[in-house]
Amino acid sequence: MIKVPFNELKLINKKYKKKFLYQVSDCIEKSNFIKGKYNRILDEIIKKKFQIKHSLLVKSGTDALIVALRSFNFKKNDEVITTANTWISSAYAISLNGATPVFVDINQNNFQMDIDCFKKKINKNTKALIVTHLYGCPNDMNKIKKICAKHKIKIIEDLAQAHLAKYNNKIVGNFGDVAILSFYPSKNLGALGDGGAIITNSSVIYKKCKLFANYGSNSFQDVDHKIIGINSRLDELQAAFLSEKIKNLEYEIKKRNQLAKIYNSYCKKIKIQNIKITKNSISSYHLYPVLIKRKRNFVKKLLKKRGIECKIHYEKPIHLQTAFKDLNYKKNSLPITEKIANQTLSLPFYNGISKNKIKYIFNNLESINKSLKL
Ligand SMILES: Cc1ncc(COP(=O)(O)O)c(C=O)c1O
Repeated sequence: MIKVPFNELKLINKKYKKKFLYQVSDCIEKSNFIKGKYNRILDEIIKKKFQIKHSLLVKSGTDALIVALRSFNFKKNDEVITTANTWISSAYAISLNGATPVFVDINQNNFQMDIDCFKKKINKNTKALIVTHLYGCPNDMNKIKKICAKHKIKIIEDLAQAHLAKYNNKIVGNFGDVAILSFYPSKNLGALGDGGAIITNSSVIYKKCKLFANYGSNSFQDVDHKIIGINSRLDELQAAFLSEKIKNLEYEIKKRNQLAKIYNSYCKKIKIQNIKITKNSISSYHLYPVLIKRKRNFVKKLLKKRGIECKIHYEKPIHLQTAFKDLNYKKNSLPITEKIANQTLSLPFYNGISKNKIKYIFNNLESINKSLKL
C-alpha cells in the first residue's frame, strides 16, 4: 500500500526553514514584533504581484472579510449576495456587519456562483456581492461586473483559494471594490499559522479598513480613537515567513497547473467529473475536487483504507448550518449546491506529489468505480 496524504506541508515549507530561522533571530534581536520591516516588505510584494494599489495585512482571511465589509457601513435590511458552497467566513462577515446573507446556487460545470441565479436574487436591498473564486477557479467577472454596475452593487472578491488566478489575463482581486486573501497554512501561499490580507485599488476603502483593524486609531501616535475598532494585524513572524515564500508563488501556481493537466487526463480516462475551469481564466488550483455520483462517503472511506487521504469541500452548505437557521433556508432550496455537497471529493493535490502516487490514486478510483458501478 502506498500512503498518499492529502497535503505535505512539511515538504512544501522545508525550503523556507533556514531563512525563517534567521528571520526569527532578526526579529528577536531588533525587538520588532508589530508592523515591522517584514510586514512592510510583504505589503510591497503583494501590491506588485497582485498589481494592486493597497495591501493591508490582517490576522486571518476571516478577519479580512469582516474588516473589508465593515468599510461599506451596511444598514439593517441591507442584503449581500453570496454562495453557500464555501468556507463559512464570508457569510459570518456579512452577518457580523449587520447585513443579511442571501445565498444563490452554483453552476454545475465550474462549481462557482450561477450568474443567472444571482441576477434573480437582486432587489432594492441588495448592496453587495461576495464572489468566491472557489478552489482557485475564477468566476466570469465580465458578466458579474456588468450586472453589478447596472444595479450599483459593490463587489468583494474572496481570493482565499485563488492567489494569482487570472481572468481575461488580469489577476483576480482587480475586478471588484475590494478583495481578501487567506494565508491559512494549507493555502497556496500558506503561513505557519493564521494570516490574511485585504487588497484594493480604492484609497477610501483602504483607509477605512486600516482604521478599523488598528483599534479605530490612525497610528500609535494618535491618542484619539476615531471609531470603535479591533486589533487585527499580521504577526511579524508570519510576515517574515510569507515575505520569502511569496517569491515563489507564480512558480508554485504554474506547477499546480501542470499537475492539474495530469489529473485532468486521468479524470477523462476513467470518466470522473472534475471542474470545468471558466472560459478565459487560469485557475490557481488550490484544491482538486471530483464528483463521486454515488456513495461518496463510502468511496472516501475505501480510499482511506488504501492509504489515500481525501477531504470534502464542503460537506454542509452554509445555508443549512445551524448558525444560520434563522434565515429559514429549507433543504433543496439550493439544489446544485446541495447535490455537489453530497458528491464532491477533494483528492490529494500538492506540488511535489510523485507520479507514482497520482497513478495510485486514479488506479484505485478506477477500480472502486468499476466495482461500485459509480
Ligand atoms: C474561500 C475561503 N474564504 C475565507 C476563508 C477564511 O480564511 P481563514 O481561515 O484565514 O480565516 C477560507 C479559509 O479557510 C476560505 O477557504
